[in-house]
Amino acid sequence: MAAEPRTSLGDLRGRDLLSAADISPDAWRRLLELASALKLEWQAAGRHDQEPLHGRAVALVFEHPSLRTRVSTELAVGQLGGQPVYLVGGDVGIGRREAAGDIGRTLGAWVSAIVARTLRDETCRELAAGASVPVVNGLTDREHPLQAVADALTVTEALGGVERRIIAFIGDGNNVAASLAIAVTSLGGVMRLATPAAYAAPADLMAVADDRARSTGGRLELLRDPIAAARGADVLYTDVWTSMGMEAQRDRRRTDLAGYTISRALLAQAAPDARVMHCLPAHPGEEIEAELLDAPASLIARQAENRLHATKAVLATLLSYPDA
Ligand code: CP
Ligand code: NVA
Repeated sequence: MAAEPRTSLGDLRGRDLLSAADISPDAWRRLLELASALKLEWQAAGRHDQEPLHGRAVALVFEHPSLRTRVSTELAVGQLGGQPVYLVGGDVGIGRREAAGDIGRTLGAWVSAIVARTLRDETCRELAAGASVPVVNGLTDREHPLQAVADALTVTEALGGVERRIIAFIGDGNNVAASLAIAVTSLGGVMRLATPAAYAAPADLMAVADDRARSTGGRLELLRDPIAAARGADVLYTDVWTSMGMEAQRDRRRTDLAGYTISRALLAQAAPDARVMHCLPAHPGEEIEAELLDAPASLIARQAENRLHATKAVLATLLSYPDA
C-alpha cells in the first residue's frame, strides 16, 4: 500500500491499487489519457501495438459474483497479450483453507498481478501484503477503484472532463460512492454525496476526498437531502441500496433509503443536460426508476463498456507501460 504522494504514472508501476487514494491527482489524469488512447487504438485496429502483458498471467480471485469486473478484466489481460486465471474464492478457501497472505505469496510466484474481489477490505490488504506482485482491488466492502476509473473516463468522454463538473451520488454511501468521491475530487470536480446519516460513506475516505478537493480546486459536499444534491448537478449517480454481503439487511435498507431513488422528477432538478450513471447491477424501482436506465440521459451502458479500457490502463500501468 502506498502512503507517499505520487506524481506520475511511473510511480504506480509495481505497486498495489487497493484504494482510489493510491492514485495521485496527477496519476488520475494520466491514467485517463492512457485509457482513452488504448480505447481508440483498440477500436481502430482491434489490437494493441504494444502488448505489455505478453507472456504474463494475471490471477482473478473473486469471493463475490461478478459480470463486468470479471469479463472486462479477463478480456483486458488477453487483449494486452497476457493470460487471465479466474479463481472462485470459495474454491481457494480464503482465510479458511489458507490465510489470505499465504494465497497471495503462492499466486505471486506464478502470476504478474492479482485482481481480488473480497468480502472484507482487510482480506484484500492481507493478500497484497503476502504477494510480491501488484494486487488490484476488484471491489471490497469499502471501495471499488476500477469502477471509479471507468466512471471518470465516462464523465470525461461525455462532458469533456471532470473538472468543475458536479457529480451527485444519491443513496447508500457505499464502496462505489467512496472511490468515486476520491476520483472526482482528485480530478477537480465537485462531489456531492447525499445519504441518510446512518448510510454515510466512511469518514476516513471522505477525509481523503476532502484533501484531494483542496489540492485540486474541487469540492466535497456531504448532504442528506437528495433534492439539494441534484439541484444543478451535471450527473446523478446511484448504486444499489443493498451491496453484496449485506443481503440480510435488505428490508431495513429499503425502508431507510426510500426517498433516495433517482427518478425523472429528481433529474428535472439537475442541470438541463444532466446525465444519469449507475455502476450496475441495478435494482430498478429501488435506487433508480426503470425508465432512466436506458433513457437518452443515461451513461450506464458506456460505463460498463469503459470498464474494459479503464482496466487495461490500470494493468498496463502497474505492470509496465513507461511514464505516460
Ligand atoms: N459494476 C460491477 O463491478 O459489476 P460486477 O459486480 O458485475 O463486476
Ligand atoms: N455496491 C455494490 C456494487 C456492485 C458492483 C456491491 O458492493 O454489491
